[in-house]
Amino acid sequence: MMSENPNDRDPRRVSPHPVLTAYYRDEAGHRRFLTRLFDDTASQYDRISDLMSLGSGAWYRRYALRRAGLTEGMKVLDVAVGTGAFASAAMTIVGPWGSVVGVDPSTGMLAQAHKKLGIRLSQGVAEALPFRDEHFDFTTMGYALRHVADLRSMFAEHFRVLRRGGTLLIVDFTRPRSRVGLGVGRFYLKVVVSWMARLGTGGKEARLLVRYCWDTLEHLVTSETILAAMTSSGFVNVRRVGWFGILSEYVGRKP
Ligand SMILES: C[S@@+](CC[C@H](N)C(=O)[O-])C[C@H]1O[C@@H](n2cnc3c(N)ncnc32)[C@H](O)[C@@H]1O
Repeated sequence: MMSENPNDRDPRRVSPHPVLTAYYRDEAGHRRFLTRLFDDTASQYDRISDLMSLGSGAWYRRYALRRAGLTEGMKVLDVAVGTGAFASAAMTIVGPWGSVVGVDPSTGMLAQAHKKLGIRLSQGVAEALPFRDEHFDFTTMGYALRHVADLRSMFAEHFRVLRRGGTLLIVDFTRPRSRVGLGVGRFYLKVVVSWMARLGTGGKEARLLVRYCWDTLEHLVTSETILAAMTSSGFVNVRRVGWFGILSEYVGRKP
């Protein structure tokens, strides 16, 4: 099936989706919109995330990290740490001999992560990570690929901060390929989850987050484009594991 995203054909810059004019007009507006969206929903995020994942979030994150090769004693960077869901899953695996560091641009999300986890947290974006070269054994980024400005610079930064032989795991939703899959996904997120989120949290911001989540997903570049950007940033053994046509794990190794 042809992607509807013109970025699939642009070799210079790989934006995960086109400008979504219902929400913002340009890249500066995009960043402002995202900062506000995640700051405003930070205190409700865990409840919304549970609704979207039907409560499987913590279990699934641990499973994905282990399958990608995370083991005891590793030094981990969780990019887009949010309220700390991937970071806390990683902490249970690396144990006391390992370490987990989180980075996120949203002050609100970092404050929530700070309340829950006793780990080092920094403010920053995936496209310009505030860490030195070759420092981590494993980097991860959960449900944030759709929010970066450029996939190539995001992958290049993961590559830079990983030591040789280190692993990157990206987990995010995938645009369903069939019309039926798209219809079911749209109905579930835009109608069911969006209303449950509003009822459960009492906030219109929660509904906006869910709606925006679907719109970025509906216009997302293909998995092939994501894998190509990863490979062109230097990663080897690049692979994708798909789940139920809606979720993808992208894994690669720095040679
Ligand atoms: C849907 S949440 C995911 C949080 C967490 N990783 C999880 O699995 O629940 C997306 C996060 O990405 C962050 N984010 C948005 N733009 C980003 C960027 N350019 N670089 C890094 N993180 C970003 C947001 O602030 C937010 O905390």
